[in-house]
Amino acid sequence: MDKHVTRRRFLVAAPAAGLATASAKVPAPAAKSALLGGQPVRTQRFPAWPVFDQKEERALLEALRSGKWFRGYGDAERVVPRFEQAWARLTGAKFCLATSSGTGALQTSLAALGVGPGEEVILPPYTFTATLNVILNMYALPVFVDSDLETAQIDARKIEAAITDRTTAMIPVHLAGNVADLDTIVAVARKRKIAVVEDTCQSHLAEWRGRKAGTYGATGCFSFQASKNLNCGEGGAILTNDEELLEKCFAQHWNGGARSEKYSDLLHGSKFLMSEFQAAMLLAQMTRLEEQTKTRGQNAQYLTSLLREIPGIVPARMYDGCTRNAYHGLIFRYRKEQFAGLPRAKFLKALSAEGIPASSGYTPLNKKQYLKNALNSRGYRRIYSKPQMARLEERNLCPVNDQLCEEAVWIMQSVLLGGRGDMEQIGQAVQKIQAHAGELVRA
Ligand SMILES: Cc1ncc(COP(=O)(O)O)c(C=O)c1O
Repeated sequence: MDKHVTRRRFLVAAPAAGLATASAKVPAPAAKSALLGGQPVRTQRFPAWPVFDQKEERALLEALRSGKWFRGYGDAERVVPRFEQAWARLTGAKFCLATSSGTGALQTSLAALGVGPGEEVILPPYTFTATLNVILNMYALPVFVDSDLETAQIDARKIEAAITDRTTAMIPVHLAGNVADLDTIVAVARKRKIAVVEDTCQSHLAEWRGRKAGTYGATGCFSFQASKNLNCGEGGAILTNDEELLEKCFAQHWNGGARSEKYSDLLHGSKFLMSEFQAAMLLAQMTRLEEQTKTRGQNAQYLTSLLREIPGIVPARMYDGCTRNAYHGLIFRYRKEQFAGLPRAKFLKALSAEGIPASSGYTPLNKKQYLKNALNSRGYRRIYSKPQMARLEERNLCPVNDQLCEEAVWIMQSVLLGGRGDMEQIGQAVQKIQAHAGELVRA
């Protein structure tokens, strides 16, 4: 490409000039929007998810034929302990405990840290519902800290003001493969003596200053649910560098069954064990993770550079400390003012008609009806006073997050496993919609 052609002009020029093979079939922006009956920018599918072959089949059969389907107590022959060692090695954590889900990992962490009724736990309002549920399950008060519009992460600068003498833990989420501001989070947590449970459910192999996300907090919690970058259908893991906390987590995730004498008969707990089949899948899937993460990273960076050139499209940025974004998703803000006022829902419909899958992401967690119901339940009303609850309502307002929830668009991780041509088509589809935004509004 001519060096003097800007990316923005490239996006417009590529289809007309019939440049790359992928873009040769792309209709010029002047063509009719696919939602209005025109030819879509793209008709081929994006890469299928999950990715598997005989490696996974062999691993599952081996686990099956071993006749030992339960993890055992740490027997090196079993698959779960082997996975735990491998995940700890890959992430640089001292210890790993596999769990049945990311929710189980978070719940186990809070329980092992002794979080309970009467206490407050800080979390972001822009995350999957499990981050909130585990706090409610402990009858603790969820205290939301607003989002940072530019990164879609928790606004770490606002955490300290949300801390009270009842705050015992915070669950910062590293959302969509990106990393929350760990410098600020760790410094505040140290200063105010608050436990950090990193929700790393979406950020496998993401890094902060060259060290893996999930290794900065008291624990780091991963999910291996079907949509995640590392996937075994359902699964999770806890990372920690604290051996005592590991043993408490172990007991907590197994109905109090301790493997060390020290915790024998001391804790009750719940049951969140990983099975041998899940671990077998994970060991096989892990062989692809680094390569897939590289591909997502390269594609996401390229796509970001293209989208950034389109007026009204604002890709989420990373903090300086984020040295690797794992891109569980690529998030951008859609400013409808630059699209003739076309509502986001219709923009997404138009994008889908052009052959590009995308979604609107989360709705505000701090406004969920089930949260109101929980806080109004008999148990909560017995633990917390009316004035405390009224104050909480005010503290939990998150106006920046409301805007984020209205504007965000997510392109999911499997779409980022394609090639550069695929990314160009995404950019072209957005441009095409912009060119036809007026007609789309009127249609
Ligand atoms: C940010 C976040 N936290 C927690 C979870 C819960 O993980 P799981 O579905 O494995 O229980 C998820 C999974 O979607 C998640 O995305």
